Amino acid sequence: MMRFICLALGLLAGIAYSDTLNYAIPSRLEVLDDCEYPASYEIANFTRYTDDVDGSQNSTSFHFLDSKTEIDTCCQQNSTSKNSIEGTNRWPCDNPDVEFIYQTTNIVGLTVIEKVCPETGSSFEASGSSNPVLNCAVSGSGTRCIAQQSLIQGNFSSLEPIPPSS
Ligand SMILES: *[C@@H]1O[C@H](CO)[C@@H](O)[C@H](O)[C@H]1NC(C)=O
Ligand SMILES: *[C@@H]1O[C@H](CO)[C@@H](O)[C@H](O)[C@H]1NC(C)=O
Ligand SMILES: *[C@@H]1O[C@H](CO)[C@@H](O)[C@H](O)[C@H]1NC(C)=O
Ligand SMILES: *[C@@H]1O[C@H](CO)[C@@H](O)[C@H](O)[C@H]1NC(C)=O
Repeated sequence: MMRFICLALGLLAGIAYSDTLNYAIPSRLEVLDDCEYPASYEIANFTRYTDDVDGSQNSTSFHFLDSKTEIDTCCQQNSTSKNSIEGTNRWPCDNPDVEFIYQTTNIVGLTVIEKVCPETGSSFEASGSSNPVLNCAVSGSGTRCIAQQSLIQGNFSSLEPIPPSS
């Protein structure tokens, strides 16, 4: 398995981001007036490797930044990763306040999920999706795909209660 090198810390800083919320805040969340709601995010270096012979080599990795809430973290999934919520296909990033789902069937693409103001004990999360266009090349017994856009900008488009862990 090729190790994913992720240097966090402001590598993407300085890029313009949108402050506009693309979702409605439910009135029962009024208590969170001081909260910095997730609005937009950037994804860098989205990479996916799938192996036709040894599926344990499969991996997905990328770099996530939300400059408004100041979360700069690396996200990856491989054979040793544990779902953040059992029985789902949600995977935690290094910062567990961010999770992701990557699917090539059903809702195709990359969904990122960020806890809303976790320091307030809020039980809500914001999510947003994008569908990276991949450039793929055969590599060993598998295929390595890298997003055509080195930087993908996305908006959070929904705010929902965090699903219960079963
Ligand atoms: C993306 O990958 C390149 C090459 O591995 C690396 O130089 C760069 O720092 C990475 N960028 C981020 C934001 O992780
Ligand atoms: C790994 O990827 C291959 C190719 O897409 C797929 O056929 C296989 O089911 C995957 N294995 C695992 C364990 O995810
Ligand atoms: C596999 O993913 C986990 C995160 O789920 C990460 O901590 C670990 O370093 C990864 N392993 C390799 C070999 O990249
Ligand atoms: C994000 O939302 C802003 C404001 O609504 C909009 O101008 C921008 O085009 C959106 N960006 C993407 C990548 O959808």
